[in-house]
Amino acid sequence: MTIPDYAEKIPNNVGLREDRRLQRALESWQPNFLSWWESMGPTLPTQDVYLRTAIDVRGEGWAQFGHVPMIDYRWGIFLADKNPDRRIAFGQHKGDPAWQQVPGEYRAELQRLIVIQGDTEPASVEQQRNLGATAPSLYDLRNLFQVNVEEGRHLWAMVYLLHAYFGREGREEAEELLHRNSGSADSPRILGAFNEETPDWLSFFMFTYFTDRDGKYQLGTLKESAFDPLSRTCEFMLKEEAHHMMVGTTGVDRVVERTAEVMVENDSDDVAALGVIPLPVIQKYLNFHYSVSLDLFGGETSTNVANYYTAGLKGRWLEERRKDDHQLRDDSIMVDALVDGDITQTEVAALTGLNTDLRREYIADCSGGVNRWNRILEDAGLPQRLYLPHQAFNRKVGAFAGIEASPTGQKLSTAEWETRKGEWLPTDTDKTFVRSLMQPVHERGKIAAWVAPPRNGINSQPFDYDYVHLV
Ligand SMILES: [Fe+2]
Ligand SMILES: [Fe+2]
Repeated sequence: MTIPDYAEKIPNNVGLREDRRLQRALESWQPNFLSWWESMGPTLPTQDVYLRTAIDVRGEGWAQFGHVPMIDYRWGIFLADKNPDRRIAFGQHKGDPAWQQVPGEYRAELQRLIVIQGDTEPASVEQQRNLGATAPSLYDLRNLFQVNVEEGRHLWAMVYLLHAYFGREGREEAEELLHRNSGSADSPRILGAFNEETPDWLSFFMFTYFTDRDGKYQLGTLKESAFDPLSRTCEFMLKEEAHHMMVGTTGVDRVVERTAEVMVENDSDDVAALGVIPLPVIQKYLNFHYSVSLDLFGGETSTNVANYYTAGLKGRWLEERRKDDHQLRDDSIMVDALVDGDITQTEVAALTGLNTDLRREYIADCSGGVNRWNRILEDAGLPQRLYLPHQAFNRKVGAFAGIEASPTGQKLSTAEWETRKGEWLPTDTDKTFVRSLMQPVHERGKIAAWVAPPRNGINSQPFDYDYVHLV
């Protein structure tokens, strides 16, 4: 494994210099990527941003921090170290050595999985492109840029695989990843949640909590893949992804903390006029982002996903910690279902229910966030609590796509849903209100009034550090 050399055009640890054809192909994709970043990436002009850049894939010292002018930022290709003895952990090829090349019979499926993952990465950059103009502090602004450059690097990670292992079709797909755009009428991003807007910072924090967390679980299943280069790519992406989760988790923490503080100071729930976001509005944003993120896991049952598992293309979350035969031929699982119009569960073969298995892991993880936000309310002496809405609420994919349900899981008629949905999902009034609070604070050490400052800065720097120099 080589250490990336930043003197090269494309820093990498995959020995790109030894593969001239691949190097040339990627070098011809690079200007297209840069012009995509220029036209679809962050709109706020900066002199430089305090960013972390990957310099190694191992241990604590894998990244270095420094002020980087965006024009000089270098996206690279980094795979986790190869384990030459790695064996396939599940499916019909369990126990065989991991594949270093794509087996012909799985080529189309693997390419599809990589394209779908790759499509989400630039999509979120597009969704977040205007947020810099309303950042609540330089610390938050810096985090936004950090998330954006890393999503850009995750696109590179998938494009590398497409170029290196999927020939001409792979190169064509790599081009398409730059042509589809979030929310575009003609060529939208593949998955629904990645075509929604992220128009304000509460949405950004909810997105990085709920939707980036979906990414974590998808990457977790691809990290198990028998196709070793995909596995190693995802392993390193997960390392970067941890920071995105931190931005979301602590971002919502800080919104809840500030709201709670103002509620206590004024002994009132009605805090909108006091310049903070009322808890019911926070709950509505949570409801929205959680429910659209649940859709990203697909239907409760899927024969495609069963086939991916059996073939070894995509495993389960923490596959190797599961105490079963890792083939699941005779196992079953209860999945959400609509039976005679009722919201209930039904038993299916474990293999077809794998989307449910993954969604369940995700839901358990999401409830961790809600618990911590509720602890903030509890510590403030407030009786209100946030919650995760029922799985049937606001779903567009899966068993409950055709019905309407309240956040507690009561089935509703379309008419009831239409009259009541404004109690549960952000209304235009809520969105306008939240946007009205989004006045930029670009002054060092200062912060907007609707959010508490972070407990810790980045890389041991204080909150009032000069994280970003604006033009
Ligand atoms: Fe990502
Ligand atoms: Fe992410």
